Amino acid sequence: MKDKLIIFDTTLRDGEQSPGASMTREEKVRIARQLERMRVDVIEAGFPAASNGDFESVKAVADIIKDSTVCGLARALERDIDRAGEALKGAKSGRIHTFIATSPIHMEKKLRMSPDQVVEQAVKAVQWARKWTDNVEFSPEDAGRSDPDFLCRVLEAVIDAGAGTLNIPDTVGYNMPHQFGALIAKLRERIPNSDKAIFSVHCHNDLGLAVANSLSAVLSGARQVECTINGLGERAGNASLEEVVMAVRTRQDVFSCDTRIDTTQIVPASRLVSSVTGFVVQPNKAIVGANAFAHESGIHQDGVLKHRETYEIMRAEDVGWSANKMVMGKHSGRNAFKTRLAELGIELDSEEALNSAFARFKELADKKHEIFDEDLHALVSDEAAVLEQEHFKLVSLKVCSETGETPHATVVVAVNGVEEQAEADGGGPVDAAFKAIDSIIKSGAELQLYSVNNITSGTDAQGEVTVRLSKGGRIVNGQGSDTDIVIASAKSYLHALNKLHSKLERAHPQV
Ligand code: KIV
Ligand code: ZN
Repeated sequence: MKDKLIIFDTTLRDGEQSPGASMTREEKVRIARQLERMRVDVIEAGFPAASNGDFESVKAVADIIKDSTVCGLARALERDIDRAGEALKGAKSGRIHTFIATSPIHMEKKLRMSPDQVVEQAVKAVQWARKWTDNVEFSPEDAGRSDPDFLCRVLEAVIDAGAGTLNIPDTVGYNMPHQFGALIAKLRERIPNSDKAIFSVHCHNDLGLAVANSLSAVLSGARQVECTINGLGERAGNASLEEVVMAVRTRQDVFSCDTRIDTTQIVPASRLVSSVTGFVVQPNKAIVGANAFAHESGIHQDGVLKHRETYEIMRAEDVGWSANKMVMGKHSGRNAFKTRLAELGIELDSEEALNSAFARFKELADKKHEIFDEDLHALVSDEAAVLEQEHFKLVSLKVCSETGETPHATVVVAVNGVEEQAEADGGGPVDAAFKAIDSIIKSGAELQLYSVNNITSGTDAQGEVTVRLSKGGRIVNGQGSDTDIVIASAKSYLHALNKLHSKLERAHPQV
C-alpha cells in the first residue's frame, strides 16, 4: 500500500498574493469548485483577518465545498485565529493554518521578538486554534533559513499543543533540493513526537526550485505538499500543483506515495485560473503550456506516430487536454448543450443562467461553425462575468479602421439601464473603443495589463481578452471573449469597470 500524499492548494491565498492577481468572491468560489472537482484534499481559501472581502470569500468557499477541507490562514494572534474560525464555521471540514516566523532575521528585524517569545506565541496560537477545530496546521515562516535546532524546539512544542500538520515553508525560495530534503529528514528524525504530525512543505520558486525542493521533501517523508495552479504565488510563485502531481504520478517507481487528484481536471483548472487572474501560461510550461505535448521536429513526430512512448512520458488526455474536437454546431439543441456542459464539469446555477448561456452559444455558432470545448469554457466564463454585476453593459460598438486613417469608435453603453453614446479616435481600434467607453464612464482607472489569447486555433477562433485596472489601491481583472477581438476587448474593459464600480472590497491579504 502506498502512502497518501495530501495536496494542499493555496492558489486562492498565496496565489492571490501575486501582484495583480486579485479575485472576487465569485471568482474564488468558481476556482474552489474546480479544485474540489479535481479532488484537491485541502483548499486554502484566504486570510480571513486581512479584510472583510477576504473573510467573505473564505466563508463563501467554506459554505459550499463539501469534498475538500477548507483552510483559512491566520497569524499566531488570537484575533486572526478567531476571524479564521468564524469564516470556517459552515465548513463540512475546516482547518486553521497559523504561522509565525522562526528565522533569526525575521524574529529580530520583523517581529522584534526573542526565540523564547516566539515559541510561547506559537504554542498559544495552536492552543487557541484548537478551541475552534481539531484540524490545526502550524508553519514556522522562513523555516528554510531557520536554525534546525530551534525549529525542532518550536515544532515539538506545537505538536504537544495540538498541531496535526507541520508545514515547513521555504518562504524565500533559498534552499537547494538536497538541503531541503535533508532538513525534512532531520526534523522527522530528531523531534521526539514527530510521528504525531504530518510533515508538509511549502516552497517558493525564487531560484526556480520550488517543485524540485517539494519533491525532495516528499522523498524524505513529507506527506503534504502546498502548491498552486500554474505555480502562481508571491514573487516568482509557489510550487506548481500540476508539476508536483504529475511527477509523483508518472514516477511511481520513485515515490512511495500517490495523490487522489483527478488529473484530467488539471488543464481546465489551469485555464480557469489563467483567465480569472490574467496570468498567461507560457507555451513551454510543463503539463499545461500549449506546447507541452506538441512535437515539432520530424524525428520526434515520426517516433510518436510509430510508438507514442518514444517521446511521450505522459498522455495529453490524462491531464485534460482534449483533442480540439468539434463538439457542437449551430444545429445542436439545448439538451445537447446542457449535457456537454455537464460532461465538462460545468455547473450553471439556474435555469435562467442556462437559457442565457444557450442563447449566447447560438449567437456564437452563427459566427463560428465549429464549437470546441474551449469555446464552451470561455462562453461560460463570459456568462459568469455578465451575471456578476452589470452596472455598465455594452449595447453596441462600431469601429472604423482603415489604412492611412485614424481609427474611430462609436459605443453605446447602458449605465444602470440608461443608454449613453460616445465616440473617440485612438491609436488603434481597441484604444479608440476604450477611450469612447471612458468618456462615458470617466473611471479614472489606470490600465495595467491588456492581453489577448486565442482560445482555439484558426482565424475564426474566439479571442479571450484580459484587462487589469487599478484605482485607489484596488486592482481588478476583467475578461471578455468574442470572435471579434475589439468586442472582446470592450467586454473585458467593461467587466473590469463593473468590478471597480461594485465596491466589493478587494480580497487581497497583502493590503
Ligand atoms: O511562504 C510562506 O512562508 C507562507 C506561510 C504563510 C506558510 O506563505
Ligand atoms: Zn508562501
